[in-house]
Amino acid sequence: DSKPTSPAGNTNESRDPARLRSHRWFGPDDLRSFGHRSRLKGAGFDDSDFQGKPVIGILNTWSDLNTCHSHFPQRADEVRRGILQAGGFPVEVPVLSLGEMLMKPTTMLYRNLLAMEVEEVLRCHPIDAAVLMGGCDKTVPALLMGAISADIPSIFLPAGPMLKARWKDQTLGSGSDVWKYWDERLAGNLCDADWKGIENCIARSAGTCMTMGTASTMACITEAMGFSLAGAACTPSVLSQHSRLATQTGRRAVDMAWEDFRPSKFMTAGSIDNGVITSLSIGGSTNAIVHLIAIAGRLGIELTMDRFDQLSDRTPVLGDIRPGGRYLMEDFYDAGGLPALLNRMTDLLDTDALTVSGVTLGQQINGAEVIDDEVIRPRENPVSPVGGTCVLRGNLAPSGCVIKSIAADKRLLKHRGPALVFDNYPAMKAAINDPDLDVGADSVLILRNAGPLGAPGFPEWGMLPIPQKLLRQGVRDMVRISDARMSGTSYGTCVLHIAPESAASGPLALVQTGDMIAIDVEARTIHWEVDDDEAERRRSAWVAPDVTPPRGYGRLYAKHVTQADQGCDFDFLVGRSPDAEPSIH
Ligand code: FES
Ligand code: MG
Repeated sequence: DSKPTSPAGNTNESRDPARLRSHRWFGPDDLRSFGHRSRLKGAGFDDSDFQGKPVIGILNTWSDLNTCHSHFPQRADEVRRGILQAGGFPVEVPVLSLGEMLMKPTTMLYRNLLAMEVEEVLRCHPIDAAVLMGGCDKTVPALLMGAISADIPSIFLPAGPMLKARWKDQTLGSGSDVWKYWDERLAGNLCDADWKGIENCIARSAGTCMTMGTASTMACITEAMGFSLAGAACTPSVLSQHSRLATQTGRRAVDMAWEDFRPSKFMTAGSIDNGVITSLSIGGSTNAIVHLIAIAGRLGIELTMDRFDQLSDRTPVLGDIRPGGRYLMEDFYDAGGLPALLNRMTDLLDTDALTVSGVTLGQQINGAEVIDDEVIRPRENPVSPVGGTCVLRGNLAPSGCVIKSIAADKRLLKHRGPALVFDNYPAMKAAINDPDLDVGADSVLILRNAGPLGAPGFPEWGMLPIPQKLLRQGVRDMVRISDARMSGTSYGTCVLHIAPESAASGPLALVQTGDMIAIDVEARTIHWEVDDDEAERRRSAWVAPDVTPPRGYGRLYAKHVTQADQGCDFDFLVGRSPDAEPSIH
């Protein structure tokens, strides 16, 4: 299989404007090009602004409703400055903003919509290269998926994690500490004033969650896959270094346009493996599996759940970061960041894989030094000797399911107990804190109709709450099983992404309260104790829920979304169009 060659040299001879994609819009002496040029002039641009220069699209996922990207207006200006320095023509293009905190039912419903928008926005405009500005969870895979399918030179600028929060004498981490203190509040251990105090300080600045949630996991994966500059993923959002990163990213985008350095020239199966290994080594979010499968699919590479598990077996967890570990992203940055961590596992990575910098990953991380061995552990003292996320299989999940074992209570990694089944989220919410709920610490809580189709949108409901009566008895973890996802900031013994999901006729649909369920993470199994006749009897009585809305985006989604083990992309978006260019006019 062919390794990509080095990008073209950045010599003056290679800077022939006729080689630029945008030349098709601005170069010809015809009526249509007259229109393109005259209307740019109407917007105040002169020939010297755009003629013969690479047009760099700044794809900005800013919105007032995306709190994690609140610094993007300033960062976009800094990217613009870099583009101008390098002789490009910057154009800012807003694209759908997916902010985790204010969208219902879940941003995951819209990841593919943003991916489609990115692909088409790049295709139809005179854009020679793009800076992809994202950060909050789903924006990262969506931007990458769209850019890979459009196959236009692209470089990712992550929003960066917010600064770590302080409350009293505690350091608070996004999400993770919210769940923790909420349980304490329900258990009667936290007063209203303290709860309000946490609300007032836990989101300390602009930027993404500063635990190793999905945003930081995806930013690290993106950097390791070669899609952003070295050190980008860990740089906190509001540091001056982040502004300089933005400017550097803008400058580099101009060179990438001249080099025609497309994702197809630097993304390989090796890059995808590097992404998987990175995710495992940082104790990353379970959501990364779904996103990586979808990203690989756009490249025409099949990433299987089995591949994920194989790599998990040989990848140690070195990043000691919450929720799987002790520290936060700012500590990771101070400890040397992702390049330093990757430099401790060069034997596991494909160091020949290219990056947007034009050098290999190996060259990019060479010499990166770990400053703090507590945050980035040495190989001989890992957080865990093998990956923090495992794939389980069995009669309850024929196509697999996942568990973040490093964020689970070790006592529960091998467990057998009676199921307590909730048919859907509202039913669970109504019953979970009922003092008469028939539940014990050994029960296995099950939530169904919470998957890509059933919920719909594959929401983060998988960390089912511990029933209040058990919280008051001191219980803090239980085995929970669902066809939902969970937030990357969540923790606990939560088996997720059951595939096929219940709404797609998966066996999860047939489980009843009282059935015995066994999980054994070391053996990678999940087993539902039922005899075949009984399962068959229940299946014939089962009626599939109607999950296809009558119209709108929801209908497109329901008709085309794939299951968790296939990345939840739309079936018609997998791969790349043979000719991504728009037709003649
Ligand atoms: Fe935006 Fe966590 S809510 S990154
Ligand atoms: Mg999240």
